[in-house]
Amino acid sequence: MMNCQSDHNAPVRVLVTGGSGLVGRAIQHVVREEGGAKEGEEWIFLSSKDANLMNVDQTRAIFEKHRPTHVIHLAAMVGGLFKNMKYNLDFWRNNIYINDNVLQAAHDVGVVKVVSCLSTCIFPDKTTYPIDETMIHNGPPHESNFGYAYAKRMIDVHNRACFQQHGHCYTAVIPTNVFGPHDNFSIEDGHVLPGLIHKVYIAQKEGKPLVVWGSGTPRRQFIYSLDLARLFLWVLREYPEVDPIILSVGEEDEVSIKEAADAVVEALGFKGEVVHDTSKADGQFKKTASNAKLRRYLPDFTFTPFKQALKETCDWFVANYDSARK
Ligand SMILES: NC(=O)c1ccc[n+]([C@@H]2O[C@H](COP(=O)([O-])OP(=O)(O)OC[C@H]3O[C@@H](n4cnc5c(N)ncnc54)[C@H](OP(=O)(O)O)[C@@H]3O)[C@@H](O)[C@H]2O)c1
Repeated sequence: MMNCQSDHNAPVRVLVTGGSGLVGRAIQHVVREEGGAKEGEEWIFLSSKDANLMNVDQTRAIFEKHRPTHVIHLAAMVGGLFKNMKYNLDFWRNNIYINDNVLQAAHDVGVVKVVSCLSTCIFPDKTTYPIDETMIHNGPPHESNFGYAYAKRMIDVHNRACFQQHGHCYTAVIPTNVFGPHDNFSIEDGHVLPGLIHKVYIAQKEGKPLVVWGSGTPRRQFIYSLDLARLFLWVLREYPEVDPIILSVGEEDEVSIKEAADAVVEALGFKGEVVHDTSKADGQFKKTASNAKLRRYLPDFTFTPFKQALKETCDWFVANYDSARK
């Protein structure tokens, strides 16, 4: 195990790339509204308007400007199954550039800790279950998102090499499907849950049936963005390893897409017909991940119950329909 806990006593300045996205906004909430920041800490949240991190000069300039001591690296080209299937080349190139620029700029300005973000959808397609942190590089990812998956896997390669060569404490977390306020609710390009929420909302408004894409049988673990944000702060402060850690609810909390759709229907009080369009792709059947490592470190962490988190997300979407990303 590569352990790298750093003793950092100087003032802490945390730079969050992708600070305007789903996960970034949740971290903002925990830092600003839940007292997540410590006395004397400075938090800087970036969006793509502050710097295009695909560009090496803009990345260097923004790191020189803020000179962070710690970085949470979230910025990425992100999308659901259907966007991934269309744009594998863009997912590969854009994410490779962003990650290399950010991790190198962090090294250049002497950042002591970086926490980057992988995803459970980067694991091998053919695998045994449950998936754990040791299996990232054990075989090709699902063909639907190989561009995104290989780019994300290279963050782990970068972190290990960076520890070996420079002794840096740069690590990564591996969340399962994230959802919450400020998600991208696009039906074409977004992830399954925000897409479903948007579809149910429209079906309800127009009095039409809800059409769920795919068979409904694939299974997923969902993590509420606010739970993920709380765990991110723990990883930044306490997690001592370079090797990544899966941040997920337990295997027993996995739900089928049909169950997820039913939960959205319930949360929004939709009374119409529900149809499954099996001509649409299902994606990977399951990617059940083990949170045993997380549980070894944090046996008592409580996740928000799925239905409560979903209700809060649906309420947020309805209240912010005009301004929500969709
Ligand atoms: N959502 C999930 O289910 C999920 C699951 C596992 C892992 N993850 C990972 O979690 C991280 C955050 O995802 P998210 O769901 O919060 O994504 P998101 O809502 O789409 O946010 C993406 C963020 O990245 C920024 N960004 C994108 N391209 C950029 C560029 N070229 N230069 C600078 N900033 C750029 C965006 O800035 P703008 O707001 O200005 O566009 C935004 O702040 C990603 O690394 C993703 O791979 C997400």
